[in-house]
Amino acid sequence: MSTTSIFRLLHLLLLQFSLSPVLAAHPKPLTSPYLSPATIHPNYQNMFKFFKIFIYNPNSTFPFTSPSQSLFYTRLQDSHFPTENPEKAHLFFVPFPSDLPPRSIARLIRSLRSELPYWNRTLGADHFYLSCAGIGYESDRNLVELKKNSVQISCFPTPAGKFIPHKDISLPPVPSTPALTNNTASVLGYARFDWVKESTLVNQLSSDPDFLIESKPSDPNTFADRLGGSKFCLFEYKGGDVSGIGEALRFGCVPVVITDRPIQDLPFSDVLRWQEIAVFVRRSGGAVRELKRVLGRACWERHEKMRELGVAASRHFMWNETPEPFDAFYTLMYQLWLRRHTVRYVRRE
Ligand SMILES: *[C@@H]1O[C@H](CO)[C@@H](O)[C@H](O)[C@H]1NC(C)=O
Ligand SMILES: *[C@@H]1O[C@H](CO)[C@@H](O)[C@H](O)[C@H]1NC(C)=O
Ligand SMILES: *[C@@H]1O[C@H](CO)[C@@H](O)[C@H](O)[C@H]1NC(C)=O
Repeated sequence: MSTTSIFRLLHLLLLQFSLSPVLAAHPKPLTSPYLSPATIHPNYQNMFKFFKIFIYNPNSTFPFTSPSQSLFYTRLQDSHFPTENPEKAHLFFVPFPSDLPPRSIARLIRSLRSELPYWNRTLGADHFYLSCAGIGYESDRNLVELKKNSVQISCFPTPAGKFIPHKDISLPPVPSTPALTNNTASVLGYARFDWVKESTLVNQLSSDPDFLIESKPSDPNTFADRLGGSKFCLFEYKGGDVSGIGEALRFGCVPVVITDRPIQDLPFSDVLRWQEIAVFVRRSGGAVRELKRVLGRACWERHEKMRELGVAASRHFMWNETPEPFDAFYTLMYQLWLRRHTVRYVRRE
């Protein structure tokens, strides 16, 4: 979804709690937002120095339709990672348009397989591709190998069944980069919902005196101030709009993700300790009561630490004009680097 359409289809929901003094009294030591704080920096340096990608020549030039995909593709082509020598490559990138029909993707893989030796060595496991909506299960052998073995880079959130957690990667949304003009914290929580997809949770919240729902199109600048001025930002995972999660982190608004199933495709989930920077609330019959209970108790105690870690983690969601260390592009490359170890079969006759 584009950023403009996010703003068009917007419900702002504000939890109006007064700020509790409890918040100020918790100077807990800051830990790291990373899953492997000891290894991420040396691994990143190695990635930066040694990582090589072979990019197959696309049939013809084509644009990627979603902003995050085209940013990734452009940054990759402009980076120092591509190599002309496939023997030196750790991974192989197969570019194809997002709307290419499955039959054409199968034909593309079949031609790679027959013309070059690299696909057969790993049955595609050292290959990766971009597909915003992800590819589904098909019976064609080429598509089966692509789906099961190759690393898929899809857009977050990826439709159910289109994401395989141990190998796939999701692209963080491209933020609208609004400027923060007013950082005065005045509300506790904030969320936005796609009002077209009517949600019972939105209905419940709108009739609750502790919540305020705004359904007007939102001014991007007001939006930044809301994030900066809110303690928690609510996101409804299924059917809702979770695209602002990186911006929420950046402006110090702790994300609260309301979900009825485990989320497998969170961006950078093998890099970031999501449990330390976001709150996950089960959606159930008594969703609002549960939400208030969680926000009102446990989260008050660790809010400040979560906020600090979230702000620290937000650099990974930035798409910088000139790539910077640990921004979205380099963190995606880092995730690919973590996936470079595959068994390569020697061909036997
Ligand atoms: C590549 O281009 C040729 C000629 O335009 C076309 O027939 C073929 O289907 C294309 N292959 C893919 C995978 O798009
Ligand atoms: C890869 O394997 C397929 C059969 O599995 C074979 O048809 C094809 O020729 C092989 N490719 C190369 C380059 O040897
Ligand atoms: C910032 O926002 C607060 C709360 O909405 C308001 O009281 C204050 O006047 C604002 N400050 C500026 C400089 O706009």
